[in-house]
Amino acid sequence: MCGIIGYVGAQPALEVVLSGLRRLEYRGYDSAGVAVVGAGVLRTERRAGRLANLEKVLDEGSDAMPGTTGMGHTRWATHGGPTDVNAHPHTDCTGTVAVIHNGIIENFAELRTELENSGHELTSETDTEVVAHLLEIEIARSRAASGSTGGSATTAAAAVAAAAATAGTAGSSGAAGGAADTGPTGPHPLTEALRAVCRRLQGAFTLVVLHQDHPEVVVGARRNSPLVVGLGAGEAFLASDVSAFIAHTREALEIGQDQVVEARRDGVTIYDFAGTPIEGRRYHVDWDASAAEKGGFPYFMLKEISEQPAALADTLRGRLSPEGSIVLDEERLSDQDFRDIDKVFIVACGTAYHAGLIAKYAIEHWTRLPCEVEMASEFRYRDPVLDRSTLVVAISQSGETLDTLMAVKHAREQKARVLAICNTNGSTIPRESDAVLYTRCGPEVGVAATKTFLGQVAACLLVGLFLAQTRGVLYGDEVAAYVDRLQRMPELVRRTLGTVEPVRELARSLAGAKAVLFLGRHVGYPVALEGALKLKELAYMHAEGFPAGELKHGPIALIEPGLPVVVVVPSPRGRANLHGKIVSNIQEVRARGARTIVIAEEGDTAVEPYADHLIRVPATSSLLAPLVTTLPLQVFACELALARGLDVDQPRNLAKSVTVE
Ligand code: F6R
Repeated sequence: MCGIIGYVGAQPALEVVLSGLRRLEYRGYDSAGVAVVGAGVLRTERRAGRLANLEKVLDEGSDAMPGTTGMGHTRWATHGGPTDVNAHPHTDCTGTVAVIHNGIIENFAELRTELENSGHELTSETDTEVVAHLLEIEIARSRAASGSTGGSATTAAAAVAAAAATAGTAGSSGAAGGAADTGPTGPHPLTEALRAVCRRLQGAFTLVVLHQDHPEVVVGARRNSPLVVGLGAGEAFLASDVSAFIAHTREALEIGQDQVVEARRDGVTIYDFAGTPIEGRRYHVDWDASAAEKGGFPYFMLKEISEQPAALADTLRGRLSPEGSIVLDEERLSDQDFRDIDKVFIVACGTAYHAGLIAKYAIEHWTRLPCEVEMASEFRYRDPVLDRSTLVVAISQSGETLDTLMAVKHAREQKARVLAICNTNGSTIPRESDAVLYTRCGPEVGVAATKTFLGQVAACLLVGLFLAQTRGVLYGDEVAAYVDRLQRMPELVRRTLGTVEPVRELARSLAGAKAVLFLGRHVGYPVALEGALKLKELAYMHAEGFPAGELKHGPIALIEPGLPVVVVVPSPRGRANLHGKIVSNIQEVRARGARTIVIAEEGDTAVEPYADHLIRVPATSSLLAPLVTTLPLQVFACELALARGLDVDQPRNLAKSVTVE
């Protein structure tokens, strides 16, 4: 939700900010805005609609936005519709403070009443605007205390000095890469003001603020919402994710919960909300700007579908140690802790939830542990029975999904152990977890998850093998044999993607369909759910996934002549009778006039008489089959949406990283 970038350095801020917003637009695209401080003036511009609307205004406008300190925002609306007035940045009564925000300030209504009662005029319907006015009050208070009147760079400098003298806290200055480690002797007044305001806020927020009199800093804060720092040479960036500044630097710094960060040209200083200096964890981003570009494809989604063999291979690389054990990326638990596990919960949302449903089959089969899969948004509200011997596996591409994060926090409070499967280094969910396995899929910009789903499925299978091995249920050679089969999957994924042209043609021919049903059994059922989700979110079409056996208990009433029904067929070599049962299910829907689209492995001739369209995938073992059966469904949804003239990278109403509950 909402993309945020802040910049302080020597480059023209507007250019840096707009290029960052272009990379962040996948996070939200209802409206966009920028603010730049230069020549003693804070200038803002904001517009409803896509970033292109804002860029057009900036191009057309005669007023340039000079300055080397700035920030920008791309919005996914929560409070207040996507209008110009509700677009960020928001400013205070004096027009000297500007704020951008991601998240929801839950107590904004009472804060707004308080502000209005004391004479502040709020112009938008957003929760964010209260922050600008609260900052106005804090800044005035700090100026009064230091005897400064404000209003110019000179007085601002005096305020810095006064605050430094009175604060008495040494800043922990992490130098921007290549720049001198010369932080101030105490927090900047704007940092102090934001810290004070944050202590009054409830809910989830990333905030970045600028002040007209303080071009030397851009200040940010976070609680349960993402914020990372980019450390450049003589410049620093604050952003929702590293893609916003990856063209400038690959050196990044994590910001923890309830922390404020002060970014200056010569360094970055972090404090917790109590004012204690904090040392942030520095890390190097292992992908570059080209990974976050379209690379010749018209859409990110098409590029990301094609990247799946590499994404899978990278996720699987080096997972078996020379001693033959499965290797996680981070492990803050002992083998005994894992041996003590007697129950597994998987929590996730959307596509990641579907990966979790697939994992259940593998985890129960391999470990003989009971495994429940739960939508993260429901998990903590139903009092799940958790204790030290429960393992909660949290799956999240972004590592920032608030529903999943809250489920993780709830699990930790109940003393459960948490293992995260995540694609984003430095994000919150892995940091809140006891163990981590990263999917190494690289940045996924298309809003609909594709390559990261494959990475999540592979990671889940590795977690299943890890647990089975640690608990002694599978022998080392059995684990090695599975890993070997997994290692062969990237090649099968590549082969499958090479044969999807007929799927594209089929999808185009169905562009006018009203609905599509998806059926599956065993691991094919979550694949059917994923196929339906992709079609809903990309093509805005009614699509449902069902377990094929459940059809006759109600959904079969939906079948009418010509309705496309996609069936994900399990291997005839898999679970006894399953294949025969689904062949009967295909006949049942066909008998009622459905147009059957059958996904079956090579060599499965039994389905041929009942398939109006037959899509072949390579044969593989039952539990690994989703890694290939999902692919035609991704292509199908993408192509059908394109045939309908839709933007597959930024479907309506959606955002990539869902940081509100
Ligand atoms: C669908 C999709 C979403 C995400 C869900 C969880 O294509 O991308 O359903 O899977 O919002 O996101 P993460 O994995 O970031 O927690």
